[in-house]
Amino acid sequence: MPGNLEALVKPLVDCEPDALASPWHVFDAIVEQDPPIVYSDSLEAWIVAGRQYVVEILADAKTWSNCSVGSSRKANERFFGLMRELRREPEMAPIVEEFTSIRRDGAVLVTADPPEHVRQRRAFSDLFRPRRIQSMTPAIQAKSDELVARVRPLGCADWVADYSIQLPIAILARNFAVPESDGTKFKRWSDILGGRIGRINITREEIRDLIFSEKEFRNYFTPLLEERRRNPQDDLISDIATAEVDGEPLSDAEKLEACQQFVIAGHETTSSIIANIGRRIARDPDLRDRLAADRSLIPGFVEEVLRLDPPVLGFFRMAKCDTEVAGIKIAEGEYVWVAYAGGNRDPKGCPRSLEFDMTRHPNRHLSFGYGEHACLGAGLARAQAVIATNALVDLPNLALAPDHVDEYSDSYILRGLKSLRIAFDRQPVA
Ligand code: HEM
Repeated sequence: MPGNLEALVKPLVDCEPDALASPWHVFDAIVEQDPPIVYSDSLEAWIVAGRQYVVEILADAKTWSNCSVGSSRKANERFFGLMRELRREPEMAPIVEEFTSIRRDGAVLVTADPPEHVRQRRAFSDLFRPRRIQSMTPAIQAKSDELVARVRPLGCADWVADYSIQLPIAILARNFAVPESDGTKFKRWSDILGGRIGRINITREEIRDLIFSEKEFRNYFTPLLEERRRNPQDDLISDIATAEVDGEPLSDAEKLEACQQFVIAGHETTSSIIANIGRRIARDPDLRDRLAADRSLIPGFVEEVLRLDPPVLGFFRMAKCDTEVAGIKIAEGEYVWVAYAGGNRDPKGCPRSLEFDMTRHPNRHLSFGYGEHACLGAGLARAQAVIATNALVDLPNLALAPDHVDEYSDSYILRGLKSLRIAFDRQPVA
């Protein structure tokens, strides 16, 4: 990679706060290359940012493996090195062994490749059927109203802590048909289990937490899956527990891992998009007024925030064989960071690509991925984002609070605001 590009990429990969707050110039600079693909020494991976090649890779699961979507080779080496160190601690040895043997049971959904992925996808593709999402809408609306009612008399809020984290967690608990209070456990497990994604500096202590959280997670979901298998109801856990393909049930390990992915994928990204929506509206009173005057603009607005402020900047693929992208040779085993954020900003795939246009149609952004691994929960995420936007638009004189500072969590893959301090006119309790 040219030195000047590497100098742009490195701060992002190192999760430097300014780079996390505004990573867009990195993708724009790569999109401008011909071809829009570069090798980064700091990532030890290729970065693909042009829309055509992002789509080409995502559409080709035969050539490209999902075995390590959230971690670079360098991060994996560090992780497994620290894991070996932990195994040398006598009291940790059996726990680490149990953890690694479960991991050996096979990949599931986002980390799986064909033919397992095709089978699992057939089993789970119907989980978020439009009818279920439609039936969830009153519950999403009710939870949104409850969260807003708590902050309305205060005239200020941290939109992340008070709303954008709370809503998806509560909806997940409801989808699972478990007490809403269990949502705090989901949040903790998800922060810890998903904490490896997009980071190279994970510590030994974090890995220890991760192993214990995984065990807690298993101890919670294993009996729940068994109970719902015997006694199915109309909920997500029952659907996972009874999932089968051509009459063959999925394995217990597959079901457990699917639950884990729904917990991690199901709230973190949705929280981020709701926070990003809040930030955009709170900074722009004209935008708020336009949305308030014509609520039919809201779905298009949500899609445009997804395009220009995606919660997932990109995931990795690994070459399963020697191959080429845009005429560049990529050897078997090499990693490629497939930048959805770059694909979304490529003018060759989207006219006036850097302009925020909520009336854009069609909006073919890649923020939910593309191809066989495209997001299973996109419909649920969109339903929550639309309701959250309506809630924000209803807050009179909404603005960023003077003390708000943009700060993003430590990950060059999952981009999420740590807090969003907003202010609005106080409204008396109804
Ligand atoms: C704004 C919110 C969300 C964003 C931006 C998002 C983004 C993505 C992306 C980019 C992928 C593709 C992964 C790949 O290419 O390897 C994906 C896959 C996935 N997402 Fe989402 N997601 C969101 C919400 C959700 C929700 C609410 C759920 C479930 C409750 C969910 C469940 C999944 C699952 C299970 C996969 C793996 C699918 C597979 O590999 O076959 N996501 N998501």
